[in-house]
Amino acid sequence: MKSYAIVLAAGKGTRMKTCLPKCAYPLLKKPMIAYIVENLKNTELVDETIVVVGHKKEVIQEILNNSVSYAVQSEQLGTGHAVKMAKELVKDFEGNTIILPGDMPLIDENVIKQAFDNHYESKNDLTIVSTIVEDPFGYGRIIRNGDNIIDKIVEENDANQKEKLINEINTGIYIIKNDLLFASLDKIQNNNSKGEYYLTDIVNILKKDKAKLGTYLLKTAYKAMGVNDLYALSIAEGKLRQDINKRLMKSGVAMINPDTITIGHNVVIEENVTIHPNTYITGNSVIKKNSAIGPNTEIHNSTIGERVICKHSLVYNSEIQDESKVGPFAHLRDGAVIGPKNRIGNFVEIKKSYTGYKTKASHLAYIGDAQIGDRVNFGCGAITVNYDGKNKYKTIIGDNVFVGCNANLIAPIEIHDDSFIAAGSTVNKNVPKGSLAIARAYQVNKENYMKLKDKDKKEK
Ligand code: UD1
Ligand code: CA
Repeated sequence: MKSYAIVLAAGKGTRMKTCLPKCAYPLLKKPMIAYIVENLKNTELVDETIVVVGHKKEVIQEILNNSVSYAVQSEQLGTGHAVKMAKELVKDFEGNTIILPGDMPLIDENVIKQAFDNHYESKNDLTIVSTIVEDPFGYGRIIRNGDNIIDKIVEENDANQKEKLINEINTGIYIIKNDLLFASLDKIQNNNSKGEYYLTDIVNILKKDKAKLGTYLLKTAYKAMGVNDLYALSIAEGKLRQDINKRLMKSGVAMINPDTITIGHNVVIEENVTIHPNTYITGNSVIKKNSAIGPNTEIHNSTIGERVICKHSLVYNSEIQDESKVGPFAHLRDGAVIGPKNRIGNFVEIKKSYTGYKTKASHLAYIGDAQIGDRVNFGCGAITVNYDGKNKYKTIIGDNVFVGCNANLIAPIEIHDDSFIAAGSTVNKNVPKGSLAIARAYQVNKENYMKLKDKDKKEK
């Protein structure tokens, strides 16, 4: 028997009051919808995931690509109407379908697994995941009958004063037998305060059809939090940050002032790493053991080797190999690969370049589109001149090269092993192995010039 998932992500997210579709909003630099789809996959319980898209559907589709199937809801007429859009993809299959809202980023794979276990064990036709919250405002309330069985779900806008006091709420997660799902969806009406087709109405419909209804009470309520506005988004992000930081600290990652440290969901950090305050490590980054990162550092989609020190710096889509020291104030980007035991220092920008073993660029340098060998010293103020306004060109530097201060290396250019570029040179020809290249005007000292100048002034 197969299991399906339908994730609802067609809504505009009116309460966000911004233009990005709600489910595309990022937490820790990863879109909300991506968490749900990834966690569903991790359960290994679902054969196919269908995401219902509508408002700005291309934004959601660009995030999820072909990792899921799509159903399109061109007009957002409510959650019940949204699920109906998946009918053609699911209706002919026997099995169970889990339905989840796309604005629930904290839901994790264990919650989904437990809900499925409960559904199968209790042999329900429909299982609704509920939870108890202190402030139920905005959520659908679970109304139970005298036997404590779920009777219906009432939305905030349709609830009377007594119902509004109920703090058992609908999380928006349902598991239901496929054959019953679409039959009951067809019976949903839109005679409510919003004029929408509410998915929650299937409870009442199935009850009338004598189906077996049950609830699974989730104990960790915050995991089912729905994100409807930017304030809720910040609360959800805070919770996620705390969960990730706690897991990492328990696994041997030291954090100094963890409230100021943001680590993304897919980041891997090995043991005995220390993270200093105001540091962001996101995307698919890896930090290997015994390294120290921060303070004030941003690392995104990058790999940091062992025993690296990286402080006050930005590292995007790049790599720093073992025992290198980076920062303060370095900027590595677009595929910069810093070799082992390098020293990349103050105000150095490195883009799309490789450096070898024990190379140094300690102060004020720009290295772009370059391949640099071992034990190169790239002097203060030296730059690769890689761009002529139209195209980018490559700089190749061999081993043991000394690039003097304020040198301009006009690419394309090759500087061979063991050579020396005199400070202040603007070099535009290749430099053979072992040579000294000087490309600057020679100095002229005009002796007694200042004295003569002063005398001239006085006479006037
Ligand atoms: C919904 C539930 C409520 C529950 C809460 C949990 C209904 C009627 N209400 O309310 O009982 O307590 O979630 O967080 O189901 N969507 C579409 N198409 C639409 C409308 C919505 O795809 O036409 C999507 C939205 O993008 C969103 C999800 O469905 O991801 C939920 O919609 P939302 O408007 O946030 O529902 P709530 O008012 O939060
Ligand atoms: Ca919601």
